[in-house]
Amino acid sequence: MKPVEIKKDIFWVGAIDWNVRNFHGHTYTTQRGTTYNAYLILDEKITLVDTVYGPFADEMIDKINQIVSPQKIDYIIANHVEIDHSGALAKILNLCPKATIFGTQKCKEGLYRNFYLDMDFKVVKTADKLNLGKRTLTFIEAPMIHWPDSMFTYCLQEKLLLPNDAFGQHYATSKRFDDEVDSAELMDEAKKYYANILWPLSTIILKKIEEIQKLSIPIDMIAPSHGIIWRKDPLNIVNSYMSWAKNETKPKIVLVYETMWGATAKMAQKIAEGIIQAGVEVKVFDVTCSDRTETIKEMLDAKGFIFGSSTHDNDMLPTIAGFLEFLKGLKPKNRLSCVFGSYGWGGGAVKNIEEILKITGIEITLPSLSIQYVPDKNDLEKCYEFGKNFALKLLK
Ligand code: FEO
Repeated sequence: MKPVEIKKDIFWVGAIDWNVRNFHGHTYTTQRGTTYNAYLILDEKITLVDTVYGPFADEMIDKINQIVSPQKIDYIIANHVEIDHSGALAKILNLCPKATIFGTQKCKEGLYRNFYLDMDFKVVKTADKLNLGKRTLTFIEAPMIHWPDSMFTYCLQEKLLLPNDAFGQHYATSKRFDDEVDSAELMDEAKKYYANILWPLSTIILKKIEEIQKLSIPIDMIAPSHGIIWRKDPLNIVNSYMSWAKNETKPKIVLVYETMWGATAKMAQKIAEGIIQAGVEVKVFDVTCSDRTETIKEMLDAKGFIFGSSTHDNDMLPTIAGFLEFLKGLKPKNRLSCVFGSYGWGGGAVKNIEEILKITGIEITLPSLSIQYVPDKNDLEKCYEFGKNFALKLLK
């Protein structure tokens, strides 16, 4: 495959991973694959910005070879330690052993602890500049967006921001730019990426975006390290990040449940009917047959969450327990919730879900609804009213 010139003498030399279906272990399903984006800048000093995941090193090197001999690389910018971006570092360094690597102090420490390589590493801080000849790179530390070592690189002459993971998407396509793909599909992947990876870091992200906005630097292209490059309207994704980082929501409810013999499922169905009757959007997920990454994406802009489980061994069922544990780590803010479930004798699921929600900081807006064994007509009416009342609270 050929490199792609994204600006005059700046090339995408990354790799497309069509087949990856799980990312970060099994915390993220990548149904549309992903890309590892590396960029080569031809200037008096030839500079490679980030690399790719190790198994794709030869693809990157092949693309670089189509432009310039890798031996001529002077500088390598390491915006991030994580191996999907630094995994090919050792292989490329073998070809250009005299190249200087630039990154944060944490990046230096992290790269060492991953690869135990002897590197010519120069630590940079926010506002430090690196002259390449016609262009100058400026570094912006971005700790915890999303690792302590993370950094953005900016080129004033090109109005180009290279923010590594920020603004990325796990989205493998043969296209490289936002104006070449379906925009709904692209935003769906960008939202999924934010919800599942960046959501808990929202306060830091908001502060960093505001810090960059105060610099009033011109940006006409944002080239992240995964997925599509934003050139049509880069401000659009920045504004979406601002909204997600502020935990802005709409009147929408995500209902997640797990059922043992179908009684809790019947409750879920009636609750959803009540919500619909109130005129509020609802998405319903049986957690045992839903993709968690998709469900979390749907929660990002939903004001209300409803959780339900049958009781088993005086507790909630195990799949929803795992789901709530994952959600706890995402630290959603400004949400309303309620809980329901069926039980046979002692109960316990509803109470234990409430406990997790309290720890997570999610407000429980209505008294929980528990039904013994199978809901009868009256019980189903209660479920309907429960859903309707919760929806109406969202609209207030
Ligand atoms: Fe934090 Fe794409 O790695």
